[in-house]
Amino acid sequence: MPALVLLGAQWGDEGKGKATDLLGGSVDYVVRYQGGNNAGHTVVVGDQKYALHLLPSGILTPECTPVIGNGVVVDPSVLFSELNGLNERGVDTSKLLISGNAHIITPYNVTVDKVTERFLGKRKIGTTGRGIGPTYADKINRVGIRVQDLYDESILTQKVEAALDGKNQLLTKVFNRRAIEAAQVVEELLTYADRLKPYVADTVLVLNKALDDDKVVLFEGGQGTLLDIDHGTYPFVTSSNPTAGGACTGSGVGPTKISRVIGILKAYTTRVGAGPFPTELFDDDGDALRRIGHERGVTTGRDRRCGWFDAVIARYATRVNGLTDFFLTKLDVLTGWEEIPVCVAYEIDGKRVEELPYSQTDFHHAKPIYETLPGWSEDITKAKTFADLPKNAQAYVKALEEMSGAPISAIGVGPGRTETIEINSFI
Ligand code: GDP
Ligand code: IMO
Ligand code: MG
Repeated sequence: MPALVLLGAQWGDEGKGKATDLLGGSVDYVVRYQGGNNAGHTVVVGDQKYALHLLPSGILTPECTPVIGNGVVVDPSVLFSELNGLNERGVDTSKLLISGNAHIITPYNVTVDKVTERFLGKRKIGTTGRGIGPTYADKINRVGIRVQDLYDESILTQKVEAALDGKNQLLTKVFNRRAIEAAQVVEELLTYADRLKPYVADTVLVLNKALDDDKVVLFEGGQGTLLDIDHGTYPFVTSSNPTAGGACTGSGVGPTKISRVIGILKAYTTRVGAGPFPTELFDDDGDALRRIGHERGVTTGRDRRCGWFDAVIARYATRVNGLTDFFLTKLDVLTGWEEIPVCVAYEIDGKRVEELPYSQTDFHHAKPIYETLPGWSEDITKAKTFADLPKNAQAYVKALEEMSGAPISAIGVGPGRTETIEINSFI
């Protein structure tokens, strides 16, 4: 049976949480494979709204086993507050599994994230300040703390001391901050060990056995393709691989097991934090997209930057992820515009460019070339089939599909679970 990957095709916040939740009823496992509580996934079930940061969106489907894979970075205090919040609302979270190889976001990683941003000044990335980058940096530098380290106090102490050695030099001598005591960090981390223990598992084995047993496994990406550390708009990216390959390294499931890669694509574009964004709008249209689309960050509460749909980016996402399908979200937000511009190519230094330039300098100079499509004014939030959509909305979807290079298999017409038009079934 299939393993499916569901990931963001733009700069995050495409509606991955809603899409994962929608598929949750037909899958056995939902796996987060990268990122951490920098993500903010909104799921609306009936009149209940949930904001998930670290937990896979499958946690809201009782039949589903939610898994935090080895590629994720885990802040235990955030994990417990998220679990507590869900438990108070009657959600059973007891099936959760967490990889013993996942790395822990320590309090000093959060401190380093914040001071580094402050020192970057105008050149800051606009991170979520959750310690994500420094935790992945520790992992790559081989001084990271893993979930399994919580169960060997002497090893944990040695590892925290090793990690803090260099960091305290940096904090005191460069950033003018107080040194962090290793013993205090160890003491705090150990307070999480017992509560975490029942969830800790060899998730690589669990997932591969599940696939051998014909179970359906859904990988849920955090962030989006253009925030990928390798394939995104570096350095204005996150520090992990949300792109499809990350699902394999971040879970220990091989690429031959993956049968479907679904790109979640917003009907327009948004971005949070700094970095290039060719179709960004600074006018009334941008404000209207933000207002109608409720484009405010789930994690940091920052207003999202808004702009028209960018087909160059969508084509790029199709290529680097090997997308088999798109799930187009928030089409309803575009209702009411007489005409809707769509970016089909860029102008860079006087030349028309059809594909995303590999050069950062070129991308910073890219100006959108728009084609204008006719809009629609009818309410589409009750549409159940493609044929229910007004002709111009149908034409908009078809145009995006043609430009983006993969079939649009579902369309979101509202935030709720049922506000979705399913065209091709995913499973
Ligand atoms: P994620 O990070 O990709 O999970 O996306 P976010 O949850 O950060 O942002 C997407 C927002 O759009 C959330 O508030 C969702 O409830 C909402 N949403 C998702 N799909 C649709 C849709 O089709 N229409 C509308 N109007 N809202 C949607
Ligand atoms: P979801 O999963 C949108 C952005 C931050 C910043 C950059 C680096 O909800 O789509 P980080 O804290 O990760 O080091 O910040 O990445 N960013 C997101 N933007 N949605 C997200 O997650 C994001 N996670 C990180 O704003 O620009
Ligand atoms: Mg989000």
